[in-house]
Amino acid sequence: SLHDALPIYYGHHSKADLVKVLVTGGAGYIGTHTVVELLAAGYEPVIVDDFSNSSPEALRRVAHLTGVESPFYEADVRNRDVLERIFIEHNIHAVIHFAGLKSVGESVAEPLRYYSTNIDSTLVLLETMQKFGRSNLVFSSSATVYGNAGTPPFTEDLPRQSTNPYGWTKAMIEQILEDVVATGHGWSITALRYFNPVGAHPSGLIGEDPNNIPNNLMPYISQVAVGRRKQLAIFGGDYDTPDGTGVRDYIHVVDLAKAHVAALNHIEHPDVYKVYNIGTGIGVSVLEVVAAFEKASEQPVPYAIVDRRPGDIASCYASPDLARDELGWEAERSIDEACQDSWNWQSKNPNGFQD
Ligand code: UFG
Repeated sequence: SLHDALPIYYGHHSKADLVKVLVTGGAGYIGTHTVVELLAAGYEPVIVDDFSNSSPEALRRVAHLTGVESPFYEADVRNRDVLERIFIEHNIHAVIHFAGLKSVGESVAEPLRYYSTNIDSTLVLLETMQKFGRSNLVFSSSATVYGNAGTPPFTEDLPRQSTNPYGWTKAMIEQILEDVVATGHGWSITALRYFNPVGAHPSGLIGEDPNNIPNNLMPYISQVAVGRRKQLAIFGGDYDTPDGTGVRDYIHVVDLAKAHVAALNHIEHPDVYKVYNIGTGIGVSVLEVVAAFEKASEQPVPYAIVDRRPGDIASCYASPDLARDELGWEAERSIDEACQDSWNWQSKNPNGFQD
């Protein structure tokens, strides 16, 4: 029966079980860090990635770091044939679905590509899981589903909304997942709403390696500190925040990776859809991040305060209580540690995985 195939349902899972977990987008920034933590926790990752925003070198580094070469399929998750082959070749107990496009600006320029990539891949994945009787899923959602309404700290019960196509794909996929669980056919699905992922593995072997000019603050600052870019543009100095710059909840990627392991360990009951904020609960301003990075790197980070970036909000941070109370997970690493680890990664790999 389905339940016999899924010992994880009944809480029989222990480190010795070697439960296979399909990781879509497993070569990416959060994916690679999660694969490392899955292996440390005794899971057996099976990876699918199309390298559209990642590189084979990232997987080689993971293998080097862990001593394990995980089964890998190079494919777009919308490729149903490959997806079915994975479920035929492996006894997949659970899926962590990272694969997707994630740039807010790009999504405004190319909404169809965003809706197709993010939503179609999730539908093909769910249909394939259904076909093979697999029902445990952890999904990469985002604090972006809080949109620009409400005031932080954000709690999970707030209504989903968004301000851009990327954010809508996350909100829509959450709705789809909720509807699928509501069928009562035994699905068990958890959506993790990430706040701002930063930092790198302390080994300096893996980290964030954006394709072009970084959109996000931490990779931009790292590239300024390492001399690849001249100065940081700070988007707005007149927000209603303590120092006028935007406030965010920066979550160390290793803590974030561990949250996925906690979510998998918690999957016990069918017909449950759960959502958890994955953040620290602490708001940090752009100027505070710059200061922390300068301290960690002992490099100057020149900046200029420019106009606000359209679509940005003043302040965004999590209420992290639900994840702590139900998953037993909480962030352990500070912004200082994230800056140290980002600098370690960036200074050892000034050109990312191309070095
Ligand atoms: N910032 C700058 N200069 C830069 C980049 C960012 O000043 O060059 C500022 C932003 O204005 C913001 C803060 O740094 O105040 C963080 O910006 P990021 O772009 O790093 O992150 P965001 O909070 O804008 O975006 C993140 C995720 C998105 C998600 C969004 C909303 O990257 O995926 O949160 O939840 F949609």
